[in-house]
Amino acid sequence: MASQTAIILAAGQGTRMKSALPKVLHPIAGRPLLHYPVRAAIDAGCDDIVVVVGHGRDLVEKYLQSAFDSRVRTVVQDKQRGTGDAARVGVAAVAKSGDQPVIVFYGDVPLIEAADLRLVLEHKKASHAPLAIATCTVVDPTGYGRVIRDEQHKVIAIREQRDLENDDQRAIREINPGIYVAQESFLREVLEGLEPKNAQGELYMTDIVERTAKRGAHVTAIDARESVLFGVNDRVQLFEAEKRMHRRIRAKHQRAGVTVRGGALIDDSVEIEADAHVDTNAVLRGATKIGASVHVGVGSVLVDVIIGANTIIKPYSVLEKSRIGERAQIGPYTHVRPESEVGDEVHLGNFVETKKTKLARGAKANHLAYLGDGVIGERTNVGAGTIFCNYDGVSKHTTTIGDDVFIGSDSQIVAPVTIGDGAYVATGTTITKDVPKDALAIGRAKQENKEGYAPRLKARMKSQKK
Ligand code: UD1
Ligand code: CA
Repeated sequence: MASQTAIILAAGQGTRMKSALPKVLHPIAGRPLLHYPVRAAIDAGCDDIVVVVGHGRDLVEKYLQSAFDSRVRTVVQDKQRGTGDAARVGVAAVAKSGDQPVIVFYGDVPLIEAADLRLVLEHKKASHAPLAIATCTVVDPTGYGRVIRDEQHKVIAIREQRDLENDDQRAIREINPGIYVAQESFLREVLEGLEPKNAQGELYMTDIVERTAKRGAHVTAIDARESVLFGVNDRVQLFEAEKRMHRRIRAKHQRAGVTVRGGALIDDSVEIEADAHVDTNAVLRGATKIGASVHVGVGSVLVDVIIGANTIIKPYSVLEKSRIGERAQIGPYTHVRPESEVGDEVHLGNFVETKKTKLARGAKANHLAYLGDGVIGERTNVGAGTIFCNYDGVSKHTTTIGDDVFIGSDSQIVAPVTIGDGAYVATGTTITKDVPKDALAIGRAKQENKEGYAPRLKARMKSQKK
């Protein structure tokens, strides 16, 4: 296959975002905005992808490197003189192939997909025109460049909103989504000598259309889907783009056999197996992987967690950077903090917090517990109100509990300590030393009952009350 070059323009400051973060790095469904146009180029078969960077270039380059490695290269536009200048910088970095088609598009259009790029590439191939562009006809063209045609309906120019000359032009609803395909040598040439004769005083990529037409050459245009044009210039559009992206992601999972209910938000990076249920307002982020037939309950938030098949996450649980086995039951209101490893069939109930804790198969902690830096054996039952005292103010220490242990309610376990298999810790015990296998550990003040003393005590208290 012939090689295919793409140039993606992403050097602009994104002034309208009013942000210290470069516009193209603002996240949409868990990935920077720029991720999606780059992926579209890769999926469309582009094997030479040049991203023009400038504003915040270090951060942008770092992201591209981490996400796409050698599949993408960058070139720097020192000063942001406009999209035409950015494209010129991009072409300068491309090998002189002469008649190979080059596709140029913007990096702030996250909803673009490979099919949209292929459409314009195919259209260029099928025509003899030196330049092919995409256009869209929309209800509200505000903010976009308008496509100007002559009496023969030929495309002769693109005018930016601010440069529109009359009401006729202002009434045009055919707009420029910003996908251009031209042969390498033609593109290089037509981008030379652009002039900043416009309201913004910038060098406009869009001017190549008029320059091509003025030479008497044909500019061919193809209708594109409206979604491709959705550009993000401010945070209102960022919100809208993310909303559309979430809808797209949701539909992808639904078609693959996942029930996703209203209000659930799923990052682009999340994987979900068939027959899982993601309930209302659940949020799935990062490298999260959900196994088959898992239920994620209402309002639960999962970040970088891997969940085995048939596990139930009940409502309002928060799970981060951890692994949960199969057939487990978590929640409601459970907090699984990073580096926890929750085994198969484990139950964690309300207000149970784990951190860096490993629970083996069938272990249970059903109510109100802090389990930090622990290792808990199979079938062990941790009673309500148990605290692993893992921190002495300086260092963290580990609590190790064997299999089939019973920890009575309201026990404090002062780490480092080990409790052997089959041991029994009586309710209300403070464990400060190791408990051998099968031992009963009981450490609490003996109870004393004073017969008939209660009424006398109450009378005394009343008499003292002012
Ligand atoms: C541009 C088009 C407009 C089109 C719209 C579609 C021009 C002049 N206008 O307008 O016709 O309808 O996109 O979304 O091209 N950039 C650089 N270097 C620069 C300036 C911009 O790399 O010096 C990059 C930006 O990072 C951005 C892209 O080019 O990713 C588009 O720039 P932007 O300023 O957003 O153009 P629009 O005003 O949206
Ligand atoms: Ca834009």
